[in-house]
Amino acid sequence: MIKQEIIEDLLKQVIYPGFTKSIVHFDFVREIKIIEKEISITLSIPSTSIEIETQLRDEITTRIKTKTDMPVIVKILKPKMPKETSSNGKNVLPNIQNFVMVSSGKGGVGKSTTTVNLAIALAQQGKRVGLLDADIYGPNIPRMMGIADIQPVFLGKTIKPIPAHNIKVMSIGSLVERGASLIWKGAMVTQAIEQMLEDIEWGELDVLLFDMPPGTGDAQLALAQNLPVTAGVCVTTPQKVALDDTIRSMDMFKNLHIPIAGLVENMSGFICPSTSEEFDIFGKGTTQPLADAYETTVLGEIPIEPAIREGGDSGQPITIIAPNCETSKRYQNISTKLWNYLLKVNEDGGVNNEEIQPTIF
Ligand SMILES: Nc1ncnc2c1ncn2[C@@H]1O[C@H](COP(=O)(O)OP(=O)(O)OP(=O)(O)O)[C@@H](O)[C@H]1O
Ligand SMILES: [Mg+2]
Repeated sequence: MIKQEIIEDLLKQVIYPGFTKSIVHFDFVREIKIIEKEISITLSIPSTSIEIETQLRDEITTRIKTKTDMPVIVKILKPKMPKETSSNGKNVLPNIQNFVMVSSGKGGVGKSTTTVNLAIALAQQGKRVGLLDADIYGPNIPRMMGIADIQPVFLGKTIKPIPAHNIKVMSIGSLVERGASLIWKGAMVTQAIEQMLEDIEWGELDVLLFDMPPGTGDAQLALAQNLPVTAGVCVTTPQKVALDDTIRSMDMFKNLHIPIAGLVENMSGFICPSTSEEFDIFGKGTTQPLADAYETTVLGEIPIEPAIREGGDSGQPITIIAPNCETSKRYQNISTKLWNYLLKVNEDGGVNNEEIQPTIF
């Protein structure tokens, strides 16, 4: 009878489709059983793609058949993925459980600030978090995370993300020549994002957040086509002129088949630090009807607060310097809701680790 170690060695030669490393390297092999006259192999893969599944089955059986005539059963456990995603289950980052795209139709509403503080809040809740600044035109994440002066380390072709506040951070903008991106055309943006996704060594993450450039352009499309984006978060401000832009952003999520976790109403009121009196600088109440219209929720409201701006400028976000203040608690609350939404998408969607009927070759 064939030995377990021989099968293990054979599986080490099975490259995960689209990558250079094996299914053993990625730790996708769950079980190898040799029972009576049968070999049973169980894999847990991060893709819902039928092609990848078929390719793996064929490759595994072909390799094992070179050493034995025993029948081979390959069981493949599928990941928790939304039923319908823009990427059709294609996932170029197999070790990452969830992808969250933070967008806004309008510039300057606080996308980057929100992404940074949500990322920190999630990490404070024990999640393994990555943060990718996909804003090629105006990369702000390095400054906001306090790593503006740190150059990324290249390991051959791959790049190591920079650790900051317990998060793995990478900015596409910090990898391109200053000013060069301003003249980038759509195809270049797409290419940069695709390449970046494959070249960064994220390791295992529970969630990777994307800070997007404002609007609904090529960057959003490139991401959605390469990754099964688990959820979208839309950042908005309460003034009525922001409304049309926000609608565009929500429509984009819908068109790209990205489940909408909800809206964050940023710059929602101002609480005077000396009198605690609340002022509605940009108005209020525009976000909830929008959430209703798109059958989603307002995840939370973040007031205008000088400490938020200072935190962004100094690289010490408010959730780090004042984790117990009211605003940090709101970020915590939003991140809890976001996480619960991710769990729900994973539960509702797809085959969720159900066994695909094994095929006997
Ligand atoms: N709630 C807030 N209170 C005070 N300042 C804030 C708040 N939210 C964001 N800011 C400040 O507003 C400015 C713009 O925020 P930010 O860069 O996060 O917006 P953005 O939507 O990412 O912008 P862009 O569209 O340029 O990427 C920053 O200086 C930030 O510190
Ligand atoms: Mg930004």
